[in-house]
Amino acid sequence: MTAAPRRVAILISGGGSNMVKLVESMTGDHPARPVLVLSNDPAASGLDRARALDVPVAAVDHRPFGRDRAAFETALLQPLLEASPDVVCLAGFMRVLTPAFVARFAGRMLNIHPSLLPAYPGLHTHQRALDAGDAQAGCTVHEVTADLDAGPVLGQARVPVLPGDTADSLAARVLVQEHRLYPAVLRRFAAGDRTPVLLG
Ligand code: GRF
Repeated sequence: MTAAPRRVAILISGGGSNMVKLVESMTGDHPARPVLVLSNDPAASGLDRARALDVPVAAVDHRPFGRDRAAFETALLQPLLEASPDVVCLAGFMRVLTPAFVARFAGRMLNIHPSLLPAYPGLHTHQRALDAGDAQAGCTVHEVTADLDAGPVLGQARVPVLPGDTADSLAARVLVQEHRLYPAVLRRFAAGDRTPVLLG
């Protein structure tokens, strides 16, 4: 008897291009299926893309909660726990989650970050790589822990930094690799294999 597919919830804040690639990859013999796309912005265009892919969506606007992250996360947990995910994927989700929230999904929450961690945790990763004169850049899928952008690496993809690159041109080259890396890591992770995926 085949095991029930793993249930995957995807958290987004914006356009959701990584979310689309994850959802499109979860077909056929893939060990997982998407059960929810959740955003902290009700106007995120990624929600429309998820609806078009027939994935249930929900949104919890973080703005009315101001600096009260615990209250925002309590509200965020409601649709998330209702979907009872086995795996949670952060895909362009731009709110920093508290250690208490992360602990609820310990060992089963993933994030994609647009740098070769441990280099350049946080924001403006491409400009920082350019400012440092790096020859290579890339992206990382890692397990989410209480330390921002510092959890165990589950996959990395590398790209060359080319003469004349701007932060935007480099971001576009890295995004292409993000769209390959995240589905590859999720397929392996959902099958219980944490061996890192290395691309490029
Ligand atoms: C991606 O570059 C991701 O690495 C970063 O935010 C961007 C979001 O892209 N965290 P999208 O919303 O998945 O299109």
